[in-house]
Amino acid sequence: MTKKGPEIAEPKGKLGVLLPGMGAVATTFIAGVEAIRRQLARPIGSLTQMGTIRLGKRTEGRTPLVRDFVPLARLEDLEFGGWDLFHDDTYEAAVKAGVLESKHLSPIQDFLEGIQPMPAVFEQRFVKNLKGENIKKGKTKMDLAEQVMEDIRNFRKSSGAERLVMVWCGSTEAFLEPGSVHKTLAAFEKGLRSNHPDIAPSMIYAYAALKSRVPYANGAPNLTVDTPALLELARKSRVPVCGKDFKTGQTLLKTILAPGLKARQLGLHGWFSTNILGNRDGEVLDDPESFRTKEESKLSVLEYILQPDLYPELYKGNCHKVRINYYPPRGDNKEGWDNLDIFGWLGYPMQIKIDFLCRDSILAAPIVLDLVLFLDLAQRTPAMASRGIQEWLSFYFKSPMHAPELYPEHDLFIQLMKLKNTLRNLRGEEMITHLGLEYYD
Ligand SMILES: NC(=O)c1ccc[n+]([C@@H]2O[C@H](COP(=O)([O-])OP(=O)(O)OC[C@H]3O[C@@H](n4cnc5c(N)ncnc54)[C@H](O)[C@@H]3O)[C@@H](O)[C@H]2O)c1
Repeated sequence: MTKKGPEIAEPKGKLGVLLPGMGAVATTFIAGVEAIRRQLARPIGSLTQMGTIRLGKRTEGRTPLVRDFVPLARLEDLEFGGWDLFHDDTYEAAVKAGVLESKHLSPIQDFLEGIQPMPAVFEQRFVKNLKGENIKKGKTKMDLAEQVMEDIRNFRKSSGAERLVMVWCGSTEAFLEPGSVHKTLAAFEKGLRSNHPDIAPSMIYAYAALKSRVPYANGAPNLTVDTPALLELARKSRVPVCGKDFKTGQTLLKTILAPGLKARQLGLHGWFSTNILGNRDGEVLDDPESFRTKEESKLSVLEYILQPDLYPELYKGNCHKVRINYYPPRGDNKEGWDNLDIFGWLGYPMQIKIDFLCRDSILAAPIVLDLVLFLDLAQRTPAMASRGIQEWLSFYFKSPMHAPELYPEHDLFIQLMKLKNTLRNLRGEEMITHLGLEYYD
């Protein structure tokens, strides 16, 4: 039975996508969208483009494509812009990133060369291993935020976009504890004017986005919008936000496997994960300060899925280690090894070994696309936008943002159910509980 869902504005006109950080992920995303628009490739990995959603009972046979079910912007209507501390246009940056082959880049070279990064807000202290030359100057961090707001206004004009979304695809910044400057919007704005050292560049972009009523997604594990100050601004401005850290590669596999082990009540003594990767992201993560931010994001996943307090005999005191090793010959084609020491009936030990030869940016690009389209949908739905954090988008993140009194939901399958039920709710469709007793009446 369908009831009336909340009001959703139609996606009229162009949707501008603003990306702070135009490296491997950003260029793979932009080039991919253009290749798909020209029908040179398929949007594999994107739930908004390829996924379906079941509606009603199993006997009804109603499973539309997600993009036919909710009013999403069309790929044809996306326009791209962004910032980087290197001058390379998106073609040069994509060639340097080495993710896509020339058979995919050459046919769209002209298009990619037309996207030039705007000068970045950058502070060396937060990303020690990069030295760039395309950087904004400003007396205070507030000046820099105003320059970013000016960039946003100019991009809106030049691209003709009716609506905008920003997705952080910049490097992982050095670890930052939330402090007093992040507690309230007033303290944060004072900090911007007085150049407070705990305001990172990513926060300046996020502040500028929210002030401009542009939804913001955080693809890295940096704190950024996950602070009371910026969440206050998001709610006040009725702008949706989500983060943190795209869930790709090893952590994606962890959140697929760990729920399975717990479902069958199999125990875990330890989980050792190590990676080699040689892209710029790996180079940045070679700095212990940036790695610490990433490590926190990667480690929390198992603890929340396995719930050792509820299942002490199975999971209490398990040993979880994560390593990332910068190894240039591998480029973006990361290799991740996992060793799981598990135990079963009567405590007999077993092992699982995984060798995932993955491509990081190939896994991340469809996430960026889905986030752009879903955040835009949330922005056009006043009942969603006014809530600030979009927990239903946890599906895409290693450290999902959540209300302060909750624990984050990491289980990929619960996250998917939450996402799809949110979409059903938006369209006034019944929630699917999987109870199914009525089939046997
Ligand atoms: N690739 C994945 O699967 C994946 C998964 C999860 C998270 N991430 C995160 O996504 C981000 C992007 O990854 P990537 O592989 O594209 O890295 P990358 O190094 O190729 O690209 C990042 C770009 O950001 C730029 N940059 C850094 N600080 C900036 C700033 N203040 N303003 C503007 N630009 C800035 C860098 O110059 C670089 O070009 C990283 O933080 C990474 O940790 C990636």
